[in-house]
Amino acid sequence: MTQHYRITLLSGDGIGPEIMAVAVEVLKVIGAQLDLSFEFQEALMGGAAIDAKGEPLPAETLDLCKNSDAVLLAAIGGYKWDTLPRHLRPETGLLGLRAGLGLFANLRPAKILPQLVDASSLKREIVEGVDILVVRELTGGVYFGQPKGIFATETGEKRGVNTMAYTESEIDRIGRVGFETAQKRGNKLCSVDKANVLEVSQLWRDRMTALATEYPDVELSHMYVDNAAMQLLRYPKQFDTIVTSNLFGDILSDAAAMLTGSIGMLPSASLGASGPGVFEPVHGSAPDIAGQDKANPLAQVLSAAMMLRYSLNQPAAADRIEQAVNTVLDQGNRTGDIMSNEMTLLGCKAMGEALIQALHSV
Ligand code: IPM
Ligand code: MG
Repeated sequence: MTQHYRITLLSGDGIGPEIMAVAVEVLKVIGAQLDLSFEFQEALMGGAAIDAKGEPLPAETLDLCKNSDAVLLAAIGGYKWDTLPRHLRPETGLLGLRAGLGLFANLRPAKILPQLVDASSLKREIVEGVDILVVRELTGGVYFGQPKGIFATETGEKRGVNTMAYTESEIDRIGRVGFETAQKRGNKLCSVDKANVLEVSQLWRDRMTALATEYPDVELSHMYVDNAAMQLLRYPKQFDTIVTSNLFGDILSDAAAMLTGSIGMLPSASLGASGPGVFEPVHGSAPDIAGQDKANPLAQVLSAAMMLRYSLNQPAAADRIEQAVNTVLDQGNRTGDIMSNEMTLLGCKAMGEALIQALHSV
C-alpha cells in the first residue's frame, strides 16, 4: 500500500531554492521506486518571508509545519536582512521555528567520506575514519535564557545581556538523547561543558553523571569546551557521540563539520518529543554564489535521507539516497566546494541529474 507523507518545504534564501529543487526531484524518484507518495507544501521563511510578509516566520508557515509529517528546510539569511532589527531577522525566524515545534534535540553528524579525505584542510591521517555525531541542545541555554536584551544602566551606558540557563529537566531530556544516540553508535558519549567556570555547566555535568547510571553500557566522559575545540583538531577520532548545550554545540558542530572537508556535505536533524522534525543542511544560504548554479546540493539531499530515516521511518529509502550520493562521488563528480584534481566539476543542477541517474541504477 502506498504510504502518504505531507512534507513542508522551506526553501528560504540564497542557494536554498536551488538545492531544495534537487532534493525534491530525488524524493520524487525515490517515492516512485519505493511506493511512497509525497505531498509537498511550500511555505515562506527567513528573508523570503520578510520580503513577502514583513516577518521571518509568518504564523501560517508555523501552522503548515505543525500540520505535516516532516519539514525540509534549506537555508535562510543574507546580507540584505543583516541590518534589520533583531526580531525581524531571518535567524529569529529559525529560532522561532525550533521553539514553536519544540525541537530540543539537534543531531549533526560529521562523517568523512573516503572520497573526500583530501578535501579536508587537515592531514589524511588525522581525518580518515572520522565519524562523529554532535547532539546539540536546541531550545534552551543562552539562545533563549531570560533576561536578554540591551538595557541602559544608571549612568546611561548601554549593557547587553544574555542568560545561560538550564533546568534539570532540560538537561535530562537532551542527556537521554545523547546516551540513546551513543547506544546506536559506538557506546561512547563525551559531554562538553565549561564546568570549571560556569554554574550552569556544573549542573549540566552533575545531571550527565547521574544519568550515566541508567546507561551502564555507555562510556561517559566529560570535557571542557575549549579543550574539546582543540581535541577536535588534534585527534578527532577519539570522539564518537558528543552531547552539549546550544551555544557550545553551535560552535563545535561547525568545527566538526570542517573536518570532513566541506560543510556543503553535512545534513542535520532537529527533533522534539513528538510531532514533525526539521531536516536541514548544516551550511548557510551562501548568498555569494546564489543563483549561479554553483551550490553543492548533497547536504540538502542527505537531509532528505535523514528525514526518511528519523521522521518517516523509511530506512530503505534513506539507504538508497545515501548510496546514490556515494555513487556520484565515486564517479568523480564534484561541486566547486569539494573539487580536487582530476575530478569532474559539476553545477548544482548537473549534480542533481547525476544523482537521479545513480538512483535509477541502485
Ligand atoms: C546553526 C546556525 C544558527 C544557530 C543561526 C543561523 C541562528 O548557526 O543552525 O548552527 O546559531 O543556531
Ligand atoms: Mg551554527
